[in-house]
Amino acid sequence: MVDEALMQPALIFSEISERSVVYCGDALDVLGGLPSCSAQAAITSPPYWGLRDYADPGQIGAEDDVDDYITNLVAVFHELRRVLRDDGTFWLNIGDSYTSGNRRWRAPDRKNPARAMSYRPPTPDGLKPKDLVGVPWRLAFALQADGWYLRSEIIRHKPNAHPESVKDRPTRAHENLFLLSKSEQYYYDYMANRERGVNGRPRNRRTVWSINTEPLSEAHFATYPTKLVAPCIAVSTRVGDCVLDPFFGSGTTGLVAAMMGRSFVGIDLKPEYIAIARRRLAAQGYGFSIIMGEEV
Ligand SMILES: C[S@@+](CC[C@H](N)C(=O)[O-])C[C@H]1O[C@@H](n2cnc3c(N)ncnc32)[C@H](O)[C@@H]1O
Repeated sequence: MVDEALMQPALIFSEISERSVVYCGDALDVLGGLPSCSAQAAITSPPYWGLRDYADPGQIGAEDDVDDYITNLVAVFHELRRVLRDDGTFWLNIGDSYTSGNRRWRAPDRKNPARAMSYRPPTPDGLKPKDLVGVPWRLAFALQADGWYLRSEIIRHKPNAHPESVKDRPTRAHENLFLLSKSEQYYYDYMANRERGVNGRPRNRRTVWSINTEPLSEAHFATYPTKLVAPCIAVSTRVGDCVLDPFFGSGTTGLVAAMMGRSFVGIDLKPEYIAIARRRLAAQGYGFSIIMGEEV
């Protein structure tokens, strides 16, 4: 049923492309220059803590201390809240990590070479080697304390998750998707995200979403799946609204927004990822303006 969201009538291609823009720069800096109450919804997947090195001094996710990582994200999302309309919502996809036991790098996993890392943050104070850090909930509580309404935790189950070489715990096959709102009351069209119940009748979607990962060979990081983004856009925006993604990467949010007749504003540090996004959208007939850091 959710796939129907992708088939909603779109605005004219050129109209979406003219109204959509991607800024190449630091998320906090760029958000600071965007007008208040200008986006209806935000959807993003920030860099996960200690997982990837994007080789940029301004990157988020490579902080030595998990508390600094949380503080940096809360600052970005504080500014994002100002840019959201008062009845707007924010969908945050975030994954967890294990402590490194103070190893400063990670060898390629026998079953998943992509998990190799050139550096790893030290084990946070109070945690032990092998502890699950609990990043999603640390962040969720910090956002709540900063003023966000924490409205839902969705388990993003990945049926095709990579195997792991572990024998002392279950293999991890999920990430978290949090729904946050700026105000107590907000725009939410629950009819746009229904599923079939046990009796075959449509019902409000439950909080476990099984969605396969969709690999994109061009990008050097995990893009999030279009099937994760589409229902978020469907319930929290109308055709013609603006969707914001402050960690735009290869542009999945923009691609789905455009295909659903919404315009978008993206931000990313890396011009090479914005170039990938441009190619992905162009393949579907969409475009966007690019504003480089020094012009912001
Ligand atoms: C997990 S990826 C996003 C992937 C995206 N959802 C997709 O489907 O392609 C995170 C992105 O955050 C960007 N990034 C890291 N630190 C940033 C910062 N301070 N400001 C803006 N972008 C940043 C990285 O360059 C990377 O593209």
